[in-house]
Amino acid sequence: MEFFATAAFGLEGIVKQELNRLHIDGKCEMGGVRFSGTAEQCFESNLWLRTADRVLLIVGEEKVLSFEDLFQFVSSLPWERYLPKDAHFPVVGKCVKSQLMSVRDCQAITKKAIVERLKKKYKTSWFEENGADYKIEIAIHSDMARLTIDTSGNALNKRGYRTWNGEAPIRETLAAALILTSPSRGKMPVWDPCCGTGTLLIEAAYIQANRAPGLTRSFACEGWKDFSPKTIKDIRNQAEAAFHPSAIGEIGGSDIDPQALTLCKRHIKQAGIGGKITVFEKDLRDLEAPYAAPCFIVNPPYGERLSDRKQCEKLYKGLRLLKERHVGSRMCVITAHNGFERCFGQRATQKRRLYNGRLECEYCIF
Ligand SMILES: C[S@@+](CC[C@H](N)C(=O)[O-])C[C@H]1O[C@@H](n2cnc3c(N)ncnc32)[C@H](O)[C@@H]1O
Repeated sequence: MEFFATAAFGLEGIVKQELNRLHIDGKCEMGGVRFSGTAEQCFESNLWLRTADRVLLIVGEEKVLSFEDLFQFVSSLPWERYLPKDAHFPVVGKCVKSQLMSVRDCQAITKKAIVERLKKKYKTSWFEENGADYKIEIAIHSDMARLTIDTSGNALNKRGYRTWNGEAPIRETLAAALILTSPSRGKMPVWDPCCGTGTLLIEAAYIQANRAPGLTRSFACEGWKDFSPKTIKDIRNQAEAAFHPSAIGEIGGSDIDPQALTLCKRHIKQAGIGGKITVFEKDLRDLEAPYAAPCFIVNPPYGERLSDRKQCEKLYKGLRLLKERHVGSRMCVITAHNGFERCFGQRATQKRRLYNGRLECEYCIF
């Protein structure tokens, strides 16, 4: 089967490397990585990918210029190969720079074409849709229509430990990418001086412990006919056995906000790594990290509101002083503030363009 692991812009290359580690060859495209694989590999990629948003099964792709083209194309695809008679199959859509730009019409036509096809194949005129979920997407970009089924269900950034989001938490997928592309490489201690609800710390610990990010959650494809429950159980058991909490080294964080820290501690516990991460309340301007030569990885406030901007700029200077107080440390900062390097007072040795939600950011490493 053909799959597409979707990812935030800028993370495609990292997703491809993650697939390589699963012995899957992928090809980067805008917004994700395409790969061929078996049902088992699809499940494994859902379970193990830290930086992808979803894994979509590609049913078909073709150029469409009219609603009639769309109807004919969708009804020519082998839906009965994937959807059982009782499948629940909502259709979502998106249209970008194409002749067909009405998302609602495209969704309705896609649904109708699939229903007509299945009516003939299953010799019935009514579908209860009370079985497993098969969320279908019709995505049209520059007149190319791509029909996919979402194998993930909830987006993959939902690791299953988070109860409440707090203010401006970074997505788990992006947090994992920041850790994977930092110079820490599991060898330097990691410290987040603005740890908030703990997302970066938990991702760092999961990586060091080789903990599959999706270990305690389920995926849509688990209820599908091609996915043998026995094989899924075996893959889960292997992932369970590969998890080594004792491999977690020096990881810790601090924040000025006690409420965020309460959540942070709760999340660490719920993530199954209680007692493995040091967390305390501290203004980063007074921080003395308890580890020698740490790799600081931080998502500080960006000062999007003008009133906060000056405050943030002072904080960035504080990050520079923090780095100077810790001999041999590295500083890795994701920021949407376009004057960050000026405020920090140094040019980054490495920079990467990334998106934090809709915000265009730079990941600067000093
Ligand atoms: C964008 S949020 C970080 C969110 C975090 N990455 C998460 O996933 O929850 C910025 C954090 O910086 C903290 N902060 C702001 N000023 C600070 C300071 N002077 N010292 C330490 N932390 C500070 C805020 O309390 C907030 O939790």
